[in-house]
Amino acid sequence: MLRDLFPRRLLQWLGPLLFTALAGLVVAAIVVVTGLPNLAATTPHPQPWAAFLHYTFNRSVAFHASGLTPPADLDSPNRVALGAAHYANVCANCHGAPGTGQNPIALAMTPRPPYLPAQIKDLSDREIFWVLKHGVKYSAMPGWPTQQRDDEIWSMVAFVKTLPAMQYDVFRRIALGESASPNDRLPHLDFGSNLALRPYISHNSGIWQGDINHYQYPATGPDQFAETGAVIQTCARCHGAAGTGRAVGAFPNLAILSPQYIRGELASFANGSRHSAFMQTVADQLSPAQMDAVAAYYSGQPKAKSLAAATFAVPAAEVQYGAQIALQGLRDRKLGSCNGCHALADADARNFPRLNGQNEDYMIAQLRLFRAGGRGDTGRYNPMVGVAKALGDREISAVAAYYAAQTPYSPAVLSAERVAAKPQR
Ligand code: HEC
Ligand code: HEC
Ligand code: HEC
Repeated sequence: MLRDLFPRRLLQWLGPLLFTALAGLVVAAIVVVTGLPNLAATTPHPQPWAAFLHYTFNRSVAFHASGLTPPADLDSPNRVALGAAHYANVCANCHGAPGTGQNPIALAMTPRPPYLPAQIKDLSDREIFWVLKHGVKYSAMPGWPTQQRDDEIWSMVAFVKTLPAMQYDVFRRIALGESASPNDRLPHLDFGSNLALRPYISHNSGIWQGDINHYQYPATGPDQFAETGAVIQTCARCHGAAGTGRAVGAFPNLAILSPQYIRGELASFANGSRHSAFMQTVADQLSPAQMDAVAAYYSGQPKAKSLAAATFAVPAAEVQYGAQIALQGLRDRKLGSCNGCHALADADARNFPRLNGQNEDYMIAQLRLFRAGGRGDTGRYNPMVGVAKALGDREISAVAAYYAAQTPYSPAVLSAERVAAKPQR
């Protein structure tokens, strides 16, 4: 009897093993086909199973995050501000925020999104990064929409870490900026009609989805600002009502830009060809009519330097070096002057964005992105990858300091200015 159950010769195991495996498959198939497993989100996981799943999640995150190095400036106020408004737009819907609870939809999910102000301290910086970049399978936690650049994700880590110690009014101030106070003079931008189908580029559009979604633009987002017409109010959280950005933070100055450049960048953010999860989430939701209107609104604001420009103090020698690069270029690196494109009289028509009075930190970040290849390709003429590769970190901060210190121009003034192309300090 025992000898039949545990045969001596290896070959005699084969039959019973194959039979057991086959029987297992048949039982599994019956269970799945009959639909017995209960996948209802309303039925919580049994406690031991939930603990096992959470342990698996923790181990997986710890393992995959182990090789990451957080940037040296992780705790900078710039990064915290960059993360805050995106958190209010997107993440707070599921995870709650300081002094505010979670909505009933989020609480009805399984697994339930943790209340981050209380729970985030359990994860290290690099573990938070990994979760944000890749999301969590079999849960509602999404991966980061743009996988091509990590700087935005680190900024979100910087903000999320501050949640446990943050009070409600501080959160409102850094997340909503000046639009936290009711601002009735901001225009109401209607959705309009005549919506066109637009192409959609997504890093996971290659993944088989069963039913492919044919995106009818604009998308709906966690925040319904586009449908309520509160578009400028939303932009103002990050860019300020006048477009000059905020005193803190690396937000670009929109007031200096031309309407066609703003319009083009919004379309590129929306279809994903310019990479930024912060801006894609917003631009994705705008109708074509709203994009036109918002471009007209911001380019029509008084031309003023970036709000943050008032706070920086760069040594004069560095600004001088920046002026040399901007106005003459660097002969030893075979680099022409930046103004050879950016300050041409027909620069707007040729889509060379205006730089005078732009935010310094924003320009540094963009030049580094061009150099590393993370800004994306809008399909228009773009020589900036080659230009930025010729610049070292020292050149980048010098030329950014120079442009941030310049008085913004309007095209009419420009032609006269070009005649006397001297650094204006
Ligand atoms: C649609 C709902 C949803 C949205 C939107 C969402 N999350 Fe999550 N998130 C979840 C769920 C659900 C989990 C839990 C995953 C699990 O336990 O397996 C989670 C887990 C996390 C965790 C890990 C927490 C822990 O203690 O294990 C972090 C950090 C996090 N989310 C941050 C964010 C940030 C930042 C955003 C915004 C960019 C965001 N989430 C957007 C649903 C969401
Ligand atoms: C959550 C914060 C946030 C909100 C809200 C937001 N922006 Fe932005 N915006 C950014 C950031 C950050 C960048 C820089 C993106 C990058 O790094 O590529 C940016 C970039 C831009 C640019 C490109 C500027 C340039 O010089 O190339 C335009 C145009 C723009 N935003 C317009 C808007 C408009 C219009 C709205 C409202 C409909 C809006 N933004 C709402 C954060 C925001
Ligand atoms: C041959 C023309 C040309 C030259 C020379 C050039 N640029 Fe550009 N630059 C462009 C174009 C075109 C873009 C828009 C790229 C895009 O569509 O993403 C741009 C974009 C930029 C941006 C991003 C602006 C924004 O608002 O997002 C910065 C910053 C910039 N250039 C700085 C420089 C600096 C500094 C130099 C000189 C070292 C320089 N550029 C030289 C054509 C040029």
